Amino acid sequence: MTTVLVTGANRGIGLEFVKQYAADGAEVIACCREPDAAKELKAVKGNVRVVALDVTAPASVEALQRTLDGVAIDIVINNAGVGGPRERTTGIIPFEAWLKVFAVNSVAPVLVASALRDNLLKGTQKKLVTITSQLGSVANHGGGAYPYHASKAAVNSFMRGLSKEWARDGIAVGIFHPGWVKTDMGGQSAPVTPEQSVRGLRARIAELSLANTGSFWDFQGKEIAW
Ligand SMILES: NC(=O)c1ccc[n+]([C@@H]2O[C@H](COP(=O)([O-])OP(=O)(O)OC[C@H]3O[C@@H](n4cnc5c(N)ncnc54)[C@H](OP(=O)(O)O)[C@@H]3O)[C@@H](O)[C@H]2O)c1
Repeated sequence: MTTVLVTGANRGIGLEFVKQYAADGAEVIACCREPDAAKELKAVKGNVRVVALDVTAPASVEALQRTLDGVAIDIVINNAGVGGPRERTTGIIPFEAWLKVFAVNSVAPVLVASALRDNLLKGTQKKLVTITSQLGSVANHGGGAYPYHASKAAVNSFMRGLSKEWARDGIAVGIFHPGWVKTDMGGQSAPVTPEQSVRGLRARIAELSLANTGSFWDFQGKEIAW
């Protein structure tokens, strides 16, 4: 049986990952900040274990590592993310706001991946996936939303580096853009539903291997310029 761990699993794209993998018979470890408040997540049918995780709190990541000690995980999905300030003028964005976006979007995925590396090594599939954004493409930067763009560019760089290093241990790394998706973050005008996005992302995860590790793809398999 496939075991999948998802961060930010209580709403949006993360919740949809849980629904689709659970419906397919996978064992899902669904991580969220406040399990007690995660009503929709707890109502998902199937083999779903809800675990508390604030990805930016080192004590929380360490507690997750202890809870999952010895558990084999096939696929780890770094999904949790924040949009952050959208201002077009960088000078008016407070220091703390920059740090928060980088903490969640850039640093936490690396810390979560490192904490769960032994679990992935025990798994059969050995796949680490980070949900990034096409807005992390430096080549295509159009200005604005500087903290978000830069935080996703940073996580792309971290994950590309990990893909080289971890290939030696057989772990493949996917760096995937989910499309512009109708969620709290994407807003109601977004053209892609969570259902469509996650269906595409799951197909990309199925294709992910050591032959294409470190690829920056969108949910439909189109390669994105770095
Ligand atoms: N929607 C889009 O159009 C779009 C486009 C490109 C990329 N993405 C990326 O896709 C991923 C999912 O986005 P979404 O649209 O589903 O966003 P969303 O609906 O706003 O959900 C964000 C999720 O991240 C969690 N989260 C935030 N900070 C966290 C923390 N410190 N610890 C643990 N969980 C935390 C949230 O939990 P709480 O409920 O506790 O806040 C929530 O579950 C993100 O990485 C995002 O950058 C989305």
